[in-house]
Amino acid sequence: MKDTLPMDEKYKVHMSKYFEEYERSLKDVNGFWNENGRIIDWFKPFDKVLDDSKKPFYRWFINGKTNLSYNCLDRHIQNEKRNKVAFIWVPERGEEKVVTYFGLYRRVNAFARGLLNLGVKKGDKITIYMPMILEAPIAMLACARIGAVFNVVFSGFGEQALAERINNSNSKTIITADGGYRKGNIIQLKNIVDKAIDLSNGVDNVIVVKNTHTEIDMEPDRDYYYDDIIEDGYVEPEQMDSNDPLFILYTSGTTGKPKGILHANGGYPVWIANTLKWAFNPKDEDRWWCAADIGWITGHSYIVFAPLLLGLTSVMYEGAIDYPKPDRMWEIIERYGVNLLYTSPTAIRLLMKYGEKYPLSHDLSSLKTLGTVGEPINPAAWHWYYEVIGKSRCPIIDTYWQTETGGFTISPSARLGLPDLKPGSATFPMPGIDAEILDENGKNVKPGEKGYIVIKKPWPGLMLTVNNDDKRYIDTYFSKFKGKYFMGDYAIQDDDGYYWLLGRSDEVLKVSGHRIGTIEVEDGLVSMKEIAEAAVFGKPDTVKGDTIVAFATLKDGYEKSPELIENIKKRIRNNLGPIMVPEEIHIVSTVPKTRSGKIMRRVIKAVYLDQLPGDISTLENEASVEEIKRAVDIIK
Ligand code: WT7
Repeated sequence: MKDTLPMDEKYKVHMSKYFEEYERSLKDVNGFWNENGRIIDWFKPFDKVLDDSKKPFYRWFINGKTNLSYNCLDRHIQNEKRNKVAFIWVPERGEEKVVTYFGLYRRVNAFARGLLNLGVKKGDKITIYMPMILEAPIAMLACARIGAVFNVVFSGFGEQALAERINNSNSKTIITADGGYRKGNIIQLKNIVDKAIDLSNGVDNVIVVKNTHTEIDMEPDRDYYYDDIIEDGYVEPEQMDSNDPLFILYTSGTTGKPKGILHANGGYPVWIANTLKWAFNPKDEDRWWCAADIGWITGHSYIVFAPLLLGLTSVMYEGAIDYPKPDRMWEIIERYGVNLLYTSPTAIRLLMKYGEKYPLSHDLSSLKTLGTVGEPINPAAWHWYYEVIGKSRCPIIDTYWQTETGGFTISPSARLGLPDLKPGSATFPMPGIDAEILDENGKNVKPGEKGYIVIKKPWPGLMLTVNNDDKRYIDTYFSKFKGKYFMGDYAIQDDDGYYWLLGRSDEVLKVSGHRIGTIEVEDGLVSMKEIAEAAVFGKPDTVKGDTIVAFATLKDGYEKSPELIENIKKRIRNNLGPIMVPEEIHIVSTVPKTRSGKIMRRVIKAVYLDQLPGDISTLENEASVEEIKRAVDIIK
């Protein structure tokens, strides 16, 4: 047993199964994964658990052949799950739709056939840009079935962000919808796709689901309606190698270009199915609701794939949790008898602001377990969630993980042994996760001291690489502490061995739980004709976590005005998407820079937040700090 874990007798008894499994997972990697790797079916069993001969490119379940769509669907329809409800889909307007495992299987096959008929082949890349409708998971599963690598782009991204992802993933087929509903508005997705294609290297096929029935342009021989291409029948699932790529999902980092995180056909499903089971201990009869969007990893792993792998009934919803009324979430729980709820701190804080009267007006007694993800949960939100929503009887499963890790890395385990919870702590690592906290020099920090969280050994859910960029994979994740997986977060471990995640250690913002790279927004700003330089940083916000603030200088010949600022915001919204729009844009005449010309974002942020700017010895133009100060005084 690791000496950092609590040795308290109480824990040993209560959590004995957890400690036993955890210890085994690290000491007997082969035995542990030989057993737990069989949570999915293999057409051909793997002949080796782990190949670490090309570190840090770890490969799992060597020579195993499998298919995710088969594992989510085919194997269930051969047993009593055949007629079980797979998804209850709750739209923003109108009646819910229910689809059984058999129904989903049929629809996935029909769409897979449609894709094949268009000439899509195993290994082709497909971008999925869709609202939260059933055709979104159907598309993901159909791609997985035929071995096409899917790249889901969140429908809140704008045309430029979409184009960049289409190009980087080399997608020649796009699956979209005419539009999507959100808070009573229609997002014109097909129009955005058309503009993105103009900015891209060109695509061959666009498949359009009729959803909002809004008028759209259809390009002959390129654009097809989903309804016209589906074809009933059976499509043999491709026998995918465990280490063939399954999907690409872009996430922001510390440079301008988003990284295409590549996950595998074998390790990823094994990891997400096991972690969902360990953390939430879902029962066959439970109704699971992960209130995320499929455009993010949370939606991939825990709306679509892990619940289907385990044969659960899931709720999937369209729209927003506070529209048309602030009680939408509570109403859905009551109406559909949700037992396990998985949401984010930002959602909890938003709903908390509306007040207790909304949850109190609903019967939430079906709830058994509550989960959270996306950022550290502040104790006030934790208590509200625990007491007002869970009536102090539902454990809170605070799951710490990221796009790159595939599934949960640190989380309480309701199945193996639930620790006493501490509000704001994600508690202990999942089996297979050998975490530690290091200082700048790579030395272990003492209990209670803050450092960088790393994972020392590979686990099956770890990404294969960064799409087309092995170097970036190594540089970003395995270089700061050589050979150890660097998560980019600060953490402490307390005297009882509990992990507390303290937020990002890099310049990545968390806006409503979404990762936003400051440089991505800066790039978006300086690509405009009026803007010379831009510095973007996060301002703490009680609901969203961070909000985006930008300071910018203008090129000669442009004057600052409220109209200009509104216009800049509008263009960011179109190009990058609503989630990337700075809440505040301040135009100044100079920004603080180092002598080598790097913008000192940190200094601007400190002045703005009324904090000490720290070391400014490398500053080139002190006057700029004074100007920022004056600008800030005016704002406040
Ligand atoms: C980053 C990953 C994981 C799916 C959603 C976000 C932060 C995530 C927690 C948590 C503290 C958390 C980290 C992480 N984060 N969950 N429970 N406690 N921080 O995925 O966009 O890849 O972001 O989210 O900073 O590195 P993502």
